[in-house]
Amino acid sequence: MIRRMNLRLCALGILASLLLPTGCKKPEESGTASGTGVGSDTIPVGEYASLTGKEAAFGQSSHKGTELAVEDLNKAGGVLGKKINLITEDTQSKQGESTTGVRKLVSRDRVVAVLGEVASSRSLEGGSICQKEKIPMISPSSTNPRVTQVGDYIFRVCFEDVFQGKVLATFGKDSLKLKNVAILSDAASAYSQGLGDYFEAQFKKDGGQIAAQQKYNGGDKDFRAQLTAIKGANPDGIFVPGYYTDVGLIVSQARQLGITMPIWGGDGWEAPQLIEIGGEALKNTYYSTHFYYQSTDPKVKDFVDRFKAKYNEIPDAMAALGYDSAMVLADAMKRAGTTESQKLRDAIAATKDFSGVTGKTTIDQNRNASKPAVILTVENGKFKLLESVPPEAVH
Ligand code: PHE
Repeated sequence: MIRRMNLRLCALGILASLLLPTGCKKPEESGTASGTGVGSDTIPVGEYASLTGKEAAFGQSSHKGTELAVEDLNKAGGVLGKKINLITEDTQSKQGESTTGVRKLVSRDRVVAVLGEVASSRSLEGGSICQKEKIPMISPSSTNPRVTQVGDYIFRVCFEDVFQGKVLATFGKDSLKLKNVAILSDAASAYSQGLGDYFEAQFKKDGGQIAAQQKYNGGDKDFRAQLTAIKGANPDGIFVPGYYTDVGLIVSQARQLGITMPIWGGDGWEAPQLIEIGGEALKNTYYSTHFYYQSTDPKVKDFVDRFKAKYNEIPDAMAALGYDSAMVLADAMKRAGTTESQKLRDAIAATKDFSGVTGKTTIDQNRNASKPAVILTVENGKFKLLESVPPEAVH
């Protein structure tokens, strides 16, 4: 008898737990900063960025741009009558952390979309979760072609490395007058390997030669063995598709070894820390990126002024693209009239001529955008604009 009653109580307990809407309450109960679920009075949007670690400048900058956009949107009344609640996960510049962070955003915070990452290897990680869960993701600044190939829920608002590689090959040949160059790339980075390959293909196509190919692993501190081998191959320039922390050291050590020739690379060079690490050694170096703060466009001027007022620093490419990624998402939400996953995805895919601080964004059938590139150099400890290359100038 007692046993039977216990069983009955137990069954009642299970029944009660099935009936009570505990499942729906989970996001609020999780004790996170979000306190939001679908149906609440804010729209939860996720962001993942390298706020700490060796590429902290990327995440910090991108986050500031995104944060400013969300502030602007919310000041103007929000989107679909609700304020946007930006929930940010730090990827620590480490492999594996993007998977963990994006999983949290999707299952704990129930975000309706995800913004991030800057580095392509990390966007590839986070992207596969978003694709699986059918949560639209917009990378502000990952340029490796594979990022958006992960699937139909993954977008970007920047140019791709096929374009950037061509821009840098043409600049090397026509502006730097180089004919026989070395490539020094990061073996562990999708971005570095891709950009190196696209550069090489175009440089050779235009009649240039590759004198030597050397590799390092991101985070290395001593590049002298590779640089000595490169010096021995006698090139007239060195192409380094890497990230600023490594590049700063590479350039310094090259100059110490008496290598005075031009050294150039892509958007991964962009960070004020490049100048801190590289200093005087950065003479005769060049890189391409997505944005330059000195523009006559009133939209850009206004963004730069407000960014400076809020953060006391000049916005760089990651900040500008971070800003535009959030604005493109908000625009799509408004057009979709909902944050429902499939409809939101379709609206992002239909983005056409959206005017932002990095120019016009049109999402093509492969979920990519075409944007101009700028080429900068370092002069007297400051970045200086050399050239601007529109997408149609490169084939
Ligand atoms: N494009 C780089 C990547 O895909 C990231 C980056 C973007 C770095 C913009 C600096 C500026 O990994």
